[in-house]
Amino acid sequence: MCGIVGYIGDKSPVEVIMTGLHRLEYRGYDSSGVAVVGENGLDCVKSVGKLKIMDQKLEEHPLKGNLGIGHTRWATHGVPSEANSHPHFNGAKTIAVVHNGIIENYYELREQLQAAGVVFRSQTDTEVIAHLVDKYYEGDLFAAVKRALKDCEGAYAIGVICQDNPDVLVAARHGSPLIVGLGDNEGYIGSDVPAIMKYTRNVMYIENGHVCEITRAGVKIEDVDGNPVSMEVKTVEWDDAAAEKEGYPHFMLKEIHQQGAVLRNTLAGRIDEHSDSVRLTDMNIAPEELKACGKIFIVACGTAWHAGMVGKFLIEKFAKVPVELDLASEFRYRDPIIPPNSIMIPVSQSGETADTLEAIRIAKSRGAKVASIVNAVGSSVARESHGVVYQQAGPEIGVASTKAYTSQCMCFALFTIWLGQVRGTLDKDQVAMMIRELRAVPDKVDAILKNQDKVKELANRPEYRDAVGAFFLGRNYNFPSALEGALKLKEISYIHAEGYAAGEMKHGPIALVTNTFPVVCVAVKGETYEKMVSNIQEIKARAGLIISVATEGDESIQAHSNDVIYIPECYEPYSPILVAVPLQLLAYHISANLGRDVDQPRNLAKSVTVE
Ligand code: F6R
Repeated sequence: MCGIVGYIGDKSPVEVIMTGLHRLEYRGYDSSGVAVVGENGLDCVKSVGKLKIMDQKLEEHPLKGNLGIGHTRWATHGVPSEANSHPHFNGAKTIAVVHNGIIENYYELREQLQAAGVVFRSQTDTEVIAHLVDKYYEGDLFAAVKRALKDCEGAYAIGVICQDNPDVLVAARHGSPLIVGLGDNEGYIGSDVPAIMKYTRNVMYIENGHVCEITRAGVKIEDVDGNPVSMEVKTVEWDDAAAEKEGYPHFMLKEIHQQGAVLRNTLAGRIDEHSDSVRLTDMNIAPEELKACGKIFIVACGTAWHAGMVGKFLIEKFAKVPVELDLASEFRYRDPIIPPNSIMIPVSQSGETADTLEAIRIAKSRGAKVASIVNAVGSSVARESHGVVYQQAGPEIGVASTKAYTSQCMCFALFTIWLGQVRGTLDKDQVAMMIRELRAVPDKVDAILKNQDKVKELANRPEYRDAVGAFFLGRNYNFPSALEGALKLKEISYIHAEGYAAGEMKHGPIALVTNTFPVVCVAVKGETYEKMVSNIQEIKARAGLIISVATEGDESIQAHSNDVIYIPECYEPYSPILVAVPLQLLAYHISANLGRDVDQPRNLAKSVTVE
């Protein structure tokens, strides 16, 4: 985890860095720190806790200069404390380093350095980098960093400054994300685009193994052996306002409300109006490969894994290809059998999830074609895959995934139609109908968002808001909706919630149901509606408190439920996209009513870049 930012130029480095760190706070918020090279050499401010504390400290202790680096931390080695906060320094405090990642051989390096007389101030792995750079420093910071990195194993994105080289910002990447931004007579580094997009749209996505020397004149990139690397400058299309709250009290609520527009964006450019067909050219899979494909592997973590389950159901039902769905953290250790002609679809909002990346590497090494569903453009998952379908959802800042989930489901719907089209499992009329229904989804999402009064009211009722636990139940396409609804509630409200396939209740979980136990039942019209109603009746018979999510016009469900949230009538295979919205809102409003930190729930970080 962790976020890094750096700046060289005429603006105030503290202003640029703090703006960037606020945008990166989703990557971790245990502690933070900023170091600046100014007239009096290298100066630094650190603080434990959220960035607002850091803002206050910087007012009391302003840092002035033209070069600086900053960091927001999610602890991996060493407790959250000022000593463990970045930047870390060499012994003489002339060199400062910020780091995102883990130096895996740091014990060994630390022992070697200590044996040579180096005194460590922190328990972090990062501090070894500062001492190594010092060890190799002979007046050229770029050269010293390249040499130091040869000794380091593991993952890193680093920013390094030195008071004796006030015109140079050095950055490097191996495994953790890093971008370099270019401006007029200035340069930036950041863990991702939102960190610097207030100031520049011209960015370079730095590759693994590359080290950058950033000066006011531009960027020089080399590998650790000094071989020059050339890199394209890309223009970021995202709107800066997209990274702000736009008047909503929380990013999560803003992102929930963006979903209609986001889903239109996900569809944009993917449907050929003339032939009424889907095309996903960036996935880089030839029609012959789609036809020959005998198995699809979907790997992801958390919410993205729930989207993967929606994908599995769609693909198997309509394109008739067997799908294995894995948690990426399990896939990498289970020695998976990957037959020839297999396709892997990793799913990741951030594109930086360590387990998903490792699953990709395993699948590639065993011959699979890898085409990912990713939101963050230019991220590691996208770059390590053979092809990609970008979700086009814009930056997601709230830690709880909302718009990324629904747009991932939408990408799977598009992929399914494409696959069915090419393999001939869907005829022209079915394809036309599925496209028509897909196009109708964003408006239905907007309709749900316009009519939230019922959800808000329920979220404020003591029997739901103050519950100690809850179940979320669904069947078939909406089994993943149940899992996702439960995850949303527990991660932001801290109410214990579990998602189950409704048919599983009688096999154990129903024992927990009492007259104070809320059970959210997804019972939209479709193939398993009657079965779902039977399950609801079983819970009702045990006095459970039932909130049903049902299809508009279904009056009869009220007789079996304490409360009903309606969604518009829709094509059942796409219903998970619609169902997700009221479940997100329920979790959001309960969490907000309980006064929780909605956007940054405890113990979590937006991007899980460590195993
Ligand atoms: C939950 C949530 C997480 C992520 C998971 C994967 O709301 O956001 O469960 O879905 O950490 O992250 P990505 O999609 O970035 O790989």
